[in-house]
Amino acid sequence: MQKPADIFARDAEWANLAEFATTATDYPRLGVVSGRRRQGKTFLIEALATLTGGLYFGATEATETESLALFATALGDHLGQPSPPRFDSWDEAIRFLFSVDPAHGPFVIDEFPYLSQVSPALPSIVQREVDRAASAKRGINLLLCGSVTSVMGRLLSGTAPLRGRATLEMAIRPFEYWLARQFWEVEDPRVAVLVHSIVGGTPAYRRFAASDTPQSLDDFDDWVLRTVLNPVRPLFREARHLLEEEMNVRDSALYHSVLAAVAAGNNTRGGIANYVGRKATDIGHHLTVLADSGLLRPQPDVFRAGRSVYRVAEPLITFYQVVMRAQWGVLESGRAETVWRAAKARFLSQVVGPHFEQMCRDFALWAPPELFGELPGEIGAGVVPDHSRRSQIEVDVVVMAPAYPGRPKKLLSLGEVKWGEVMGRRHVERLERARHLLSKNYDTSETVLACYSGAGFEPGLDPKVLTVGLDDLYKSFA
Ligand SMILES: Nc1ncnc2c1ncn2[C@@H]1O[C@H](COP(=O)(O)OP(=O)(O)O)[C@@H](O)[C@H]1O
Ligand SMILES: [Mg+2]
Repeated sequence: MQKPADIFARDAEWANLAEFATTATDYPRLGVVSGRRRQGKTFLIEALATLTGGLYFGATEATETESLALFATALGDHLGQPSPPRFDSWDEAIRFLFSVDPAHGPFVIDEFPYLSQVSPALPSIVQREVDRAASAKRGINLLLCGSVTSVMGRLLSGTAPLRGRATLEMAIRPFEYWLARQFWEVEDPRVAVLVHSIVGGTPAYRRFAASDTPQSLDDFDDWVLRTVLNPVRPLFREARHLLEEEMNVRDSALYHSVLAAVAAGNNTRGGIANYVGRKATDIGHHLTVLADSGLLRPQPDVFRAGRSVYRVAEPLITFYQVVMRAQWGVLESGRAETVWRAAKARFLSQVVGPHFEQMCRDFALWAPPELFGELPGEIGAGVVPDHSRRSQIEVDVVVMAPAYPGRPKKLLSLGEVKWGEVMGRRHVERLERARHLLSKNYDTSETVLACYSGAGFEPGLDPKVLTVGLDDLYKSFA
């Protein structure tokens, strides 16, 4: 089944979904599609249902009675019944669904958590019917889909009744950065990094910006004013919407402050607690909820077990926290230009700088294995204590070989990232020092030192040092 032309990328996702939807079996097949909002889940599964002649039902926030009526109508229409069935409970509705000729499938229920939130028994009902169909050797292709909020996160987690029953479990993620560049049709890699540092790889944001793409580096500031800082564009309010939708909680002020702390670079648990004015133990729950909903990502320090830093997973939220939040009123009144002028330096240091580091780690993760000698086992950042100098060295891109028991871990690469600095001898010296310090505990015999720069490199660098510039960041994935 051909992927529709308006679906960009997602080739593997489409192939898996198409296989799922078009395979007839004598056992029930349950698929679960999840992912953060705006990543294109509905876009994919609706197209799938249309092309296969299956049922697409998109649940909304509603009472159980209303949802049942909407589901009955959708199912009745789909089956061409003159009058819709009547369901008094999900028990009836799901039993009915499982009795329908599977040739009418696949059956796709989108925003499933809206239903199960109001009707908590629903997942167990589905589970029971799946088990019954399995013992009766009856086929059905049922696809459940939902956004990963803290609620959905729990629904699909290990203890959820449906988990072990799914034959397809697919997470729809943002586009990788090089795909995002193609999706946004940005030619210049420098502009592509800047755009990515604001909108990331979330597909919906192109439309939220009215498909407006910066034409050149000179156009970038104006593009920011035309799109994300423009009150009439959906992108303007998106970060706030995301936070509201995700944080269906009381006490949302504390969640906002936690995100603000991380966005500003206070990203250890202690640092966050200090910034928001609470004890570290008092924000544990909030950190968990934010991580469950995919907004915060804990990132372990590769050198120091048990230490991790938090990062904001959605670039737009970082941008909102750093550039927009404190000036919301001024921005709403349409005076974005003053705000942007004042925020530009903060944007470069707090948004682009850290974001570029993450892009370089993504590069290392996806780079061809020759680059570091072998396929990496782990990529991350880490801090190397330098006791004799009473300081420490932060290593932005650490590439480790897969670990083998009984052997010291092999460091494939140590890298430093600078968005706005020409890199040279002094950066390499720091990396050499880090390698020397690490050689006590790691195999550093083949460690490649790497400089990743958005501003270029001094001439005459040791040719053994790997240099990754903006073009390199993209060209492996053209
Ligand atoms: N693969 C894609 N190619 C082109 N546009 C996409 C793609 N995925 C998502 N979009 C755009 O993003 C919008 C939002 O996607 P949607 O399916 O509603 O996200 P979700 O259901 O994950 O919240 C879509 O309406 C579409 O405009
Ligand atoms: Mg959707």
